[in-house]
Parts: sequence; structure tokens; C-alpha cells
Amino acid sequence: MPTEAQSAWRTIRVAPQPTGFGAEITGVDLSRPLATDALAEVKAAWAQHSVVVFPGQPLTLDQLEAFTLQMGAFGDDPYVKPMEGHPNVLEVRREPDEKVTPFGGNWHSDWSFQARPPAATILRSETIPPVGGDTLYCDAASAYEALPQATKDKLAPLRAVHSASRAYGPQSAYSRELHLRAMPIIVSPEADKTYVHPLVRTHPVTGRKALFVSPVYTVGIEGMAPNDADPLLAELHRHLVQDQFIYRHHWTPGMVVIWDNRCTMHNALGGYDGHRRVMHRTTVAGEAPV
Ligand code: SIN
Repeated sequence: MPTEAQSAWRTIRVAPQPTGFGAEITGVDLSRPLATDALAEVKAAWAQHSVVVFPGQPLTLDQLEAFTLQMGAFGDDPYVKPMEGHPNVLEVRREPDEKVTPFGGNWHSDWSFQARPPAATILRSETIPPVGGDTLYCDAASAYEALPQATKDKLAPLRAVHSASRAYGPQSAYSRELHLRAMPIIVSPEADKTYVHPLVRTHPVTGRKALFVSPVYTVGIEGMAPNDADPLLAELHRHLVQDQFIYRHHWTPGMVVIWDNRCTMHNALGGYDGHRRVMHRTTVAGEAPV
């Protein structure tokens, strides 16, 4: 992987993926408080590349929390019981005998049904299976930019309806599978509430526009009949997950990944039945999408 011109980065090394979507960051120790200039560079590299990977960072839970707080305030994680003694850390766990779809195993942007969805999710790998368990990321800013101008004009005034109902509502897939999962997922009628956001949002740091919809959490388009909204959303979802917009992340233990929920979707892949996979996850609070 080529390293970006070091003149751009004084304290860290940044090796972007060939498309510029996703980058590996080395030369920094996340287990200790980052100096002001290093933290600013990590945030800048994250804004530029959307998904940043830090190999060789086997953080303790306390260190993961402390690093998260350097990135921003904790987000609010509503539908998974947090870890004992760590109210802001979720354990993403799948046991060897589980057969159900992995947690997060369909395209989504985290908690987009909230009024202020999390800006970042930080995931630290603990136990990684010998096969499978990769995470796919989709570049929703490049996907937006690749649309014809007529489609951009059509989407500009639209507002998408988001809800946690398909994942965490009383009729959701998770609600039927609670006994088959190791994770303490919370199913609640609260999940059926809806929240409306611009279908195209503008990143507060880069100013880039991105499609802000996902098959898991976008349940409609404000003021549009389902007969019209559903095919449009399906078309956008097909557009988003084309190969040229995807970064496939392969995990090793003790790796930290930060992704930007404002301009990406992600999808946790399976392919590791018979093996355990354990990750620890925090979120960083975000702003109301505009
Ligand atoms: C998630 O959606 O947060 C899970 C991602 C993963 O386990 O790779």
C-alpha cells in the first residue's frame, strides 16, 4: 500500500487504499493519550479517508474508552446491553455454534434512526476467526458523486424516513432470534419510532455530499407513497454497493478501525461458522444531518 506524501502528515503515517476510500494509519500508539497535533492528524486522516485502520493496537477496554473520548463524546447505544462496568462499550460476539446472520450483517449506517446519529464507530478486534468475518464498507460520498446530475437534482429535496423497527422492533428478525444469539440485544416497541433526515447529507468537515440511506434503517421517503419510494430506495442501495465503492476489511486481532457513519455504510460478513468472533465497539456522538 503506498504511503501518502509524508509532507501531508507530520506525526503519523497514512497509507491510503488505491481509491482513497479507507487508509491504514501507523506511527501512533492509541493506548496513550494522543498529543494535540497527532490527534488532529488522526481526525484529519479519518475525515479524508472515512474508514481508518490501526493495526497492532491491542487496547484494553479502559484504553478504548479513553481513545474514544479523545475523538469526541460517547454516542448513545440503545438496543444492545453494554458490557458490565463499561456502559459505553458493546461486545460484538458470535459463538462457534451460532448459525444466525452476524450482528450488523446487512448494509447500514449505525443508529441512523437517531436525531443525532453517531459520527464515528470505533471497533477493536479481540478474537478473530481463521476464516471469514471481514467487514465491508461502502463509500456513500463517491457513490453520490457518481450519480447523473438529473438524479442528484431529483434527490436534493428528499427526506428519508429512518427507523430501527426492522432490526430491533417487536416484529424484527432479531426479535425472533434472541435465544439463538450470544449478544444481549434489546427488542423494544421504541424501535418502531421513525426519524426523518435529508436523503443526501453534507459532511460537516469535508463538505462532501453523501447518500444517507440504508436497507436496514431507511423505511421510506417522506411524502412519497411506498410504491414510488421502495423502488427508488432499492435502486440507490444497488448503486451504493457496486464494487468500485467498496473497501473490504480483513481483521487481525488487536486492530482498531474507525469509520464515519456520515458518509459510509458497512456490512459484517459471516463465513466463520464453528469459530468465535469477538469485537469491542464504541460510538462517538454526531450532529443532526443536514
Ligand atoms: C457492526 O455493525 O457494528 C458490526 C461490524 C463488525 O462486526 O464487523
